Amino acid sequence: MVQATYHFPDGFLWGTATAAHQVEGGNDNNNWSRWEAEPGHILNGDRSGSACDWWRGRWKEDLDRAAETGQNAHRLSIEWSRVQPAPDRWDEDALDHYREIIRGMRARGLTPMVTLHHFTDPLWFYDQGGWEQEAAPALFEQFALRAVEAFKEMVNLWVTVNEPNVYVFSGYMGKDFPPGKSDTNAAFAVMRNLIRGHAAAYRAIKRVQKNSSVGFALNYRSIKPASASPFDHALAKFAHNSFNDSFARTLQTGVLRFSAKRAAIPEALGTQDYLGVNYYTRDLVRFAPLARKDMFVKRAFPPGAELSPNGFIANVPDGLFEALHWASQYNLPIYITENGIEDSTDELRPRYLVEHLHQVWRAVNFTYPVRGYFHWSLVDNFEWERGWSQRFGLWGLDVQTQARIRRRSVDVYAEICRQNAISAEMVQRYAPESFDRLFPDR
Ligand code: BGC
Repeated sequence: MVQATYHFPDGFLWGTATAAHQVEGGNDNNNWSRWEAEPGHILNGDRSGSACDWWRGRWKEDLDRAAETGQNAHRLSIEWSRVQPAPDRWDEDALDHYREIIRGMRARGLTPMVTLHHFTDPLWFYDQGGWEQEAAPALFEQFALRAVEAFKEMVNLWVTVNEPNVYVFSGYMGKDFPPGKSDTNAAFAVMRNLIRGHAAAYRAIKRVQKNSSVGFALNYRSIKPASASPFDHALAKFAHNSFNDSFARTLQTGVLRFSAKRAAIPEALGTQDYLGVNYYTRDLVRFAPLARKDMFVKRAFPPGAELSPNGFIANVPDGLFEALHWASQYNLPIYITENGIEDSTDELRPRYLVEHLHQVWRAVNFTYPVRGYFHWSLVDNFEWERGWSQRFGLWGLDVQTQARIRRRSVDVYAEICRQNAISAEMVQRYAPESFDRLFPDR
């Protein structure tokens, strides 16, 4: 058997990522709580409910598990609707609560990465027009300022907005997220305001904390043409530019090009210190002249790719390399801010994990400046419009009893984190089917 070990750089961050609404529970003051309560929005009528019960204290046991299993970082988000429950009210108790959690992370040896916006909006903000309103960036800036003031002694790694592209496509073009619109003008306005909001938050954080590292997290979807046809090629390029490229590109050029529209946003120039990449899977796209309602696009996973139990994700590890290659053009540090798979049986996850981390190791050796990896997620949590039907946790969750279930993936990830490396021996033990791909004998 091949004996080899793929080492990661010293100081590499190894963690998991979570988001407030998906783990905290007990919040009825944001747009998702209302969306969940309206019939027909969430698969099986699921509700986030108590989620993973973090707000009432179970963050402690989950972060204990993270630290005990070799992780040295954690990415979490701060829920705006808790910190600013009404336009004219800031909740100091909520800020204290987050201070306690972040202090708890540091006490456990977990470097905090803090996200300010992960899909949810306070109801007051949403009801006055959400990110469509011109005032949105300034309102978000005030929240960012409160957060950096509150946590500056403990945090210097910030994500302003999580997956603005998913927020826009799912809420304003695809109807999966609130407000469930299908309106390209609104989508463009929201994208523009999210960029302005990001830029305002970036500058607010920098005013308070010069040595901070501030960026956003992009959902990078690998998009390839399904055939050699020039139509499919053009379509793939268009989809890549709109979905993957537009936000980060605007921060470099000061001009937003999204869909067929454009807008100058000069204040966005230079407002990222690193690239945050969330990568899950790849699509092949085909021009379909009759598919009007799908905007003339048919999407499919690459033929033969292994699929997750609900067919939501195909295991395509080289798409992560592609994403890191794309990110490297910005000449900034890169963090993989999410990567993972829904797999309640944990059949596929160990394989998905080692194969994707192998691609991260390759990228590091191509000298792409990758500084850390956050697996999605630490424990099963509320999966938005898919409710509880999809299980992304290293640890399983029994939603009724709140019991945590240790999956084998916990152990493989723990060994990788502890050794800062992937060894042939580990892969042989946890994911033997991946062995020949990762450790070919010549
Ligand atoms: C989101 C997470 C989500 C994950 C898995 C990402 O798009 O940032 O909130 O849970 O995908 O669906």
